[in-house]
Amino acid sequence: MSGTKAGPKAQVTAEPLDLTGWPRARAARRLRFIRDYILTPKGEGALKPFKVRPWQREIVTGAFAPGIRTALVSLPRANGKTALAAALAVAELFVGPPSAEVLVVASDQRQANIALRMAKRMIELNPDLAERAMIYADRIVVPENDATMMALPADPGALHGWDPSLLVVDELHVVTEPVWEAVTSMSGKRPESLTLAISTPSTSPDCVMFRLVEHGREGTDPAFFLREFAAPDGCATDDRAAWKIGNPALGDFLAEDGLEAARRTLREPVFRQLRLGQWVSGSEAWLPFGAWDACAAPDLGTPPDGSKVVLAFDGSASGDSTALVGCTVGPDPHLFVAGLWENPGDRGWRVPREDVDNAVALAFDRWDVVELAADPWGWRSEIEAWATRQGERRVIEWNTAAAQRMAPATDRLYQAVVTQAVTHDGDPRLAAHVAHAVAKPTTLGDLIVKDKRNSPRKIDAAVASIVALDRAAFHTNNQPRRRAASFR
Ligand SMILES: Nc1ncnc2c1ncn2[C@@H]1O[C@H](COP(=O)(O)OP(=O)(O)O)[C@@H](O)[C@H]1O
Ligand SMILES: [Mg+2]
Repeated sequence: MSGTKAGPKAQVTAEPLDLTGWPRARAARRLRFIRDYILTPKGEGALKPFKVRPWQREIVTGAFAPGIRTALVSLPRANGKTALAAALAVAELFVGPPSAEVLVVASDQRQANIALRMAKRMIELNPDLAERAMIYADRIVVPENDATMMALPADPGALHGWDPSLLVVDELHVVTEPVWEAVTSMSGKRPESLTLAISTPSTSPDCVMFRLVEHGREGTDPAFFLREFAAPDGCATDDRAAWKIGNPALGDFLAEDGLEAARRTLREPVFRQLRLGQWVSGSEAWLPFGAWDACAAPDLGTPPDGSKVVLAFDGSASGDSTALVGCTVGPDPHLFVAGLWENPGDRGWRVPREDVDNAVALAFDRWDVVELAADPWGWRSEIEAWATRQGERRVIEWNTAAAQRMAPATDRLYQAVVTQAVTHDGDPRLAAHVAHAVAKPTTLGDLIVKDKRNSPRKIDAAVASIVALDRAAFHTNNQPRRRAASFR
């Protein structure tokens, strides 16, 4: 054994902990251990028993449910992420599987050491644990269980050759793709093991963590557990009810005045990210924060059959997304998604052209479609077929790459959104596309673009919305007006 700066005992002589009658289920066993053995190391309630809050119990139960291999918990700062992870690490050492191996990985060694230090402190605070553990500078060893806990630097080279039963990633949001790859390559060798990542959201959704959050939100992976705590998107920064939604520890071990002080001193996007748990898109986001959500009118949904609408189509030639967005024609324009086909993340995915074709036909059957404006890129033959089927007059080509038309149309939607002169159906996929849109100033006005070329953060439905509103405005202004009354 190396580095004995902390002066560990030469050997452990105490009998192993008596666990007769303890639950076998992973979560229940750990919760019992924390209740019986862990004291709060510092902060609110320091030196008192560590009381697992109901929302923390939910996290533990979900993360340690049978079959879960990866758990991701998104929580704002100071909601006890590191403390809970440390308590679970100590539980793993004492009541986990034989030869438990607990690794803590973080963006850097210093951050990883925080959890290790907290775990050490938890052990030192309880003589029953302290006499059964050997505490070294760089690790904790519990001989009765042949268990070890270590903190590792987030260096892909250092992350091979381990066989963790519990791998804690503290602050996943700063972990890079190569590090995450190394993490996943070393986990999962045992019949039961868990990678537990706990983190605030990142400064930008362009990262490993957001990819995993999206994976979890899909809800299709039975081995993945996701729990997110965030204030509702678009809430005011001083909305204390929203604070509470995002911060389960608020008013408990997290003081409200601390959060208020942070609100006054942090830049708004940083406050939202770190203290409200919100995903903040880049500062160059096209729309002001929350503006799109403020226009949501989900009650209106898609317009009733027979309504007068325009449709806008932005198709992808290959593996991108394809959007069909409608807008009602009339004094209160309402945008709605009539079809959206997105790559679920397969390299070989191709947009199902037949489905798109059917959706267009269906839309024409269902509503009084005044016009379909379609971007011709990659879809020319379909568009020609639609024109033949629906009438040349009703199907027009709209080149979304032409700034002369696109810039004023982009400005129109912008103005309409910020003045709440338009509503939309609240479709979360459309909201995501709008949130992905980054403003690109041109001499003709702003255009919207993706955050970078080949970015998976698609904007096609936002582009189609711009076209749809523009064409709806055109047809609203050119509608034959009904005379109010005649003088005869
Ligand atoms: N039930 C509890 N769960 C987690 N932390 C608690 C609890 N009760 C008190 N605390 C204290 O609250 C503080 C939480 O801080 P920390 O774990 O560093 O938060 P985070 O990692 O989320 O920023 C710690 O000082 C911890 O000891
Ligand atoms: Mg922490």
